[in-house]
Amino acid sequence: MKNLLKQMSMKEKIGQLLQIPPFFFVKDLKIEVAGPVEELHLDEEKIFFAGSALGIGSAEEMIEVQRKYLEKSRHKIPLIFMADIIHGYKTIFPVPIAMASSFNPEIAYQCARISAKEASTSGIHVSFSPMADLSRDPRWGRVVEGFGEDPTLISSMVEQMVKGYIGDGIEKEGNIASCVKHFAGYGASEAGRDYNTVDISKISLYSQYLPAYRKALEAGSRMVMTSFNTLDGVPCTVNSFLLRDVLRNNWKSNAVTISDYDSLKQILAHGIAEDMKEVAYKGITGGLDIEMASSAYSNHLESLIDEGIVDERLLDEAVLRILELKRDLGLFDNPYKGASPEMAKTIVLSESNLQAARKAAHESMILLKNDGVLPLDSQAKIALLGPYSTSRRVVGPWSWHGRRDVHDTLEEVLNDNIIYVNCEEDPKKYTKEDIDRIKEADIVVLAIGEDEHLSGEAHSRSKIRIPGKQEQMFEMIHSLGMKSITLLFNGRPLILDQIQQSNALLECWFLGSESSSAIKDILFGTVNPSGKLPISFPRNEGQIPVYYNHLNTGRPYLGPNDYNEYVSKYLDIENTPMYAFGYGLSYSTFNYSDLNLSTNRMTETESITVSVTVKNDSNVEGDEISQLYIRDYVARVSRPVKELKHFQKNHFKEFQSKVIEFTITLDDLKYYLGTGDLVFDKGRFQVMVGTSSDSYLSDDFELI
Ligand code: NOJ
Repeated sequence: MKNLLKQMSMKEKIGQLLQIPPFFFVKDLKIEVAGPVEELHLDEEKIFFAGSALGIGSAEEMIEVQRKYLEKSRHKIPLIFMADIIHGYKTIFPVPIAMASSFNPEIAYQCARISAKEASTSGIHVSFSPMADLSRDPRWGRVVEGFGEDPTLISSMVEQMVKGYIGDGIEKEGNIASCVKHFAGYGASEAGRDYNTVDISKISLYSQYLPAYRKALEAGSRMVMTSFNTLDGVPCTVNSFLLRDVLRNNWKSNAVTISDYDSLKQILAHGIAEDMKEVAYKGITGGLDIEMASSAYSNHLESLIDEGIVDERLLDEAVLRILELKRDLGLFDNPYKGASPEMAKTIVLSESNLQAARKAAHESMILLKNDGVLPLDSQAKIALLGPYSTSRRVVGPWSWHGRRDVHDTLEEVLNDNIIYVNCEEDPKKYTKEDIDRIKEADIVVLAIGEDEHLSGEAHSRSKIRIPGKQEQMFEMIHSLGMKSITLLFNGRPLILDQIQQSNALLECWFLGSESSSAIKDILFGTVNPSGKLPISFPRNEGQIPVYYNHLNTGRPYLGPNDYNEYVSKYLDIENTPMYAFGYGLSYSTFNYSDLNLSTNRMTETESITVSVTVKNDSNVEGDEISQLYIRDYVARVSRPVKELKHFQKNHFKEFQSKVIEFTITLDDLKYYLGTGDLVFDKGRFQVMVGTSSDSYLSDDFELI
């Protein structure tokens, strides 16, 4: 690749740093794409020097674009096609926050594997996924795209997602490369407002936010997308602390960096550059390789280098990384790699892919409440009410290629049991005749929630309640003396009010292509729910951010029997969330006993085996996700009251009991200082093992 680099002109090299939409290469530039092209100030020569394309619709389209492009390329350097394949290509898996609820990284692996196989038939080479952003603020719409609030859980999910995309090597057909995003700290947008300022302490950055991006890179992610926000006042897209000190120097990563959409140009709005020339200067010196959808490099880098302001070596380093990625993707051998309409017919939406999506959907649901109404009897007569009864909008945000029309609705799958259905959400619109028919049912199944478009990018909300009149339905149901099961569809934690009156509450998120069938399996007990919350559900918006791994404070509130006035609490609400991280019920009843540590005195070179007996005290077989948390009582800095270190999912037959084991090593006791140093201290620790972050057995041990 170094030889190729030497043969390239300055303009050709700079072109490699430009990413634009694929239609620029095939449409009549003067007529059809005049607007965007004019805005970017790109002429045809610059367009055909571009190194990569953003998005592509089909194999045919990719082949046409690549062919036209290569005809004009002096060195025959192929374009890379990159796209947002977030939770499935056409076979849509549950949204990431739902997948995280499975606490099963294998689900993330399968989602990515199937996404890669399907997407590569369209000639896609890189997916802008996974999103490794940690989030504690459910007002932020992109909570739906992430894996929740915990660094250990997020890291496990992103690691497998990256491995799933890569499969047995990005050079092979059916495999794609991953671009982890959004580096860094995007999930901490102030007040949950998308694109807003981020202000994170260095200690929090190192310990909470950075580990998951790093894990993705260690797993083989070949690209990193920068985030829209600033960090310490510097937009991440040009932040040399992140892109050079952390990424290149500390992590020794050679991943290609790419801006987010137009985010290089946006440093003008951030107020850290005077004009596009300075934008280009800050980008290349900051450590940004590819510029997505803006044109500072294409229009200004050459003069910056000619004038001796920028060292050409910076350009060469960036271009070399991009060329090497193209080589490793096998594009020099076959620029059309993967693109095949014929393969698409057999692979895309295949029965086995849909089965995998259904299994993922099963594991992604969380039973938040059940007074015994679930599972339903196979003969149960159901009145199915609420907007999601007949809606196909359950695929979730960020599923560009996912089709809604091909999948069943709840009404369709529950048809044999339904005696009445109405998607109306306003109880006042139900007539006496409607009510009489509802009363004939054994139970009401109410399918309500946020619409898909209320979460996702640029979809923040300040009130995170169930919209409209949906929750008022409970008054009507109660006045009829009927029992109800609520199915909740949403892309973020919501504040749940009247819905609590429901006899059972099933968190469905957006479950993807197989949503309805998977829900039916859970309703009738063919499948036992096992998901747990990957993010806390606040009691009201004023509690935000509420997350389980907080610090203790100097005046901790000790609970309802703590009558001290001057402690860290609210006057009007408890400190605890409505539903805690790690919480989720099952049709089985799991009991924990006999927590045992192989030693209570651990040395630096030893490990501790922690065992606990988990018993399924019911006649229903099911899965339980057991969680191990650690607290470091005394350290150089204040440490969280608990941190998830390990989790495992085990299957239990009726009344089966198992001794399950975890291993604690020194790595589990290490923590970051604000300097970025990873350290540990001798002394006392608490280990907690249980069914959620707020229900566990505990013991202490010492590191000597
Ligand atoms: C903007 C989003 O922030 C990012 O996640 C996405 O990958 C790019 N657009 C490209 O579509």
